[in-house]
Amino acid sequence: MDSNVRPETMARITTAELANAFIDEQVASVRKQVGDKKVLLALSGGVDSSVVAALLIKAIGKQLVCVHVNHGLMRKGESEQVIEVFRNQLDANLIYVDATDRFLDKLAGVADPETKRKIIGNEFIVVFDEEARKLEGISFLAQGTIYPDILESDGVKAHHNVGGLPEEMQFELVEPVKLLYKDEVRVVGKALGLPTKMVDRQPFPGPGLGVRCLGAITRDRLNALREADAILREEFDKNGLALKVWQYFIAVPDMKSVGVKDGKRYEGWPAIIRAVNTTDAMTATIEEIPYPLLHHITDRITHEVDGINRVLLDLTPKPIGTIEWE
Ligand code: XMP
Repeated sequence: MDSNVRPETMARITTAELANAFIDEQVASVRKQVGDKKVLLALSGGVDSSVVAALLIKAIGKQLVCVHVNHGLMRKGESEQVIEVFRNQLDANLIYVDATDRFLDKLAGVADPETKRKIIGNEFIVVFDEEARKLEGISFLAQGTIYPDILESDGVKAHHNVGGLPEEMQFELVEPVKLLYKDEVRVVGKALGLPTKMVDRQPFPGPGLGVRCLGAITRDRLNALREADAILREEFDKNGLALKVWQYFIAVPDMKSVGVKDGKRYEGWPAIIRAVNTTDAMTATIEEIPYPLLHHITDRITHEVDGINRVLLDLTPKPIGTIEWE
């Protein structure tokens, strides 16, 4: 694809045939760009970086080195899944770094959303850079940048995957899906043979649960958020909503309300359910969730998650609410 082609005028990738043509084009262009050199990829496990990883594994095999940084803000079971799919099933070169303590220590006491994002983005680069320096002969850096990342790097939110790399990181970029929208990335991922579960996974922001554990992050509230989020995902999966709703998650604010449990006062945080539909994340509408399911989710979260004593539903479209709370 000509890099000057603007997505607005390009034919959208909606079928396996179109995806295959795109893959062939990108495989050829990546091979031409990279030659026999090595490429480094930060593999978050999200749809975008996973599809880029699969595309590059197809194009250049073990010349690709994937680094998965667990910043401690992943959803439940996510880092484990990255290791399972990429190391065990796809036989990728994968380096796993558990940097949980480093991130959470840096974030302690920081309440401002943009400062949190910057800390997470910067620390990610420091950790990633440390790993890169341990490796020899890397010439390229692959990124799962997609078109909305470029459109939205306009100061609304500091998306750390756009323009965030330090000058001294002397890598040429490989960005094979940068002109695609999210839904097209999924079609390409399926054509590449990635597990459906991984390709249909909802988008997950780079700063992860960090922008959903609102205000200053504490380990106990982060754990409560992670557990509540896992219950929401499990129930959406079971009840056929996972494929109908584009993005759904829990946010937990830094405030407590009074409740009662086993006849005693029980102060806890509220878990806020957000479930939105969109095609490009620029605007979003609210998906209706059946009331019986909402009651069931509320029951499970309040009984199974330590520290949560209320469940709320966010009915705000974008605009005016952004999809994430921070
Ligand atoms: P907002 O909240 O801006 O989100 O309506 C639009 C989409 O972008 C995701 N998002 C992010 N992705 N880094 C990312 O990689 C970020 O800092 C970030 N903030 C929001 C969000 O989950 C939604 O899909």
